[in-house]
Amino acid sequence: MKTVQDYIRTIPDFPHEGIMFRDVTTLFADPRGFRMAIDQLLHPYAGQPIDKVVGLEARGFILGGAIAHQLSLGFVPIRKKGKLPGQTIEQDYTLEYGTATMEVHDDALQAGEKVLLVDDLLATGGTAEAGIKLIERMGAEVIGCAFIIDLPDIGGRKKLEGLGMNVHALCA
Ligand code: PRP
Ligand code: ADE
Repeated sequence: MKTVQDYIRTIPDFPHEGIMFRDVTTLFADPRGFRMAIDQLLHPYAGQPIDKVVGLEARGFILGGAIAHQLSLGFVPIRKKGKLPGQTIEQDYTLEYGTATMEVHDDALQAGEKVLLVDDLLATGGTAEAGIKLIERMGAEVIGCAFIIDLPDIGGRKKLEGLGMNVHALCA
């Protein structure tokens, strides 16, 4: 029986030399792999109160949309700067290979809402930390951060756990 990890391929030197890029498009393209990933991402949160699913651009949209549908919840995108049409709040962050700014519509979450934050991969944790800050700036609460892949040597899990976050990942 194949595991989630078996569906993911690694492409060396993308987008820069020295980066081993974990490509989840092969997981998403396989119906068994995709369903397995969604089911396993949700497993620890069964029975927990969740009000909204928030996904980080770009692959967090694919996962977060499927998870929100599965839970019959709404989905909120956190996007790279300049993509959202309404009034936004923004948060700068650093990446494994660069810096950027994330944005969310300032009315996308209500104070007190419980949020499941979703993305494909945790590396430095900079992207997820920016997402957490945006969610918390709206007064909402992150009850879990779910990823397909955690690259433990890069330190993202430690960073998020240091912020008091529950971190769930399916493979390394
Ligand atoms: C990747 C990945 C995460 C982020 C993780 O996205 O999908 O969002 O990097 O890295 P970090 O833990 O070091 O912050 P990327 O920045 O490549 O953007 P994309 O999904 O828009 O291609
Ligand atoms: N984002 C940051 N590091 C990455 C990696 N190694 N593979 C895919 N996405 C990433």
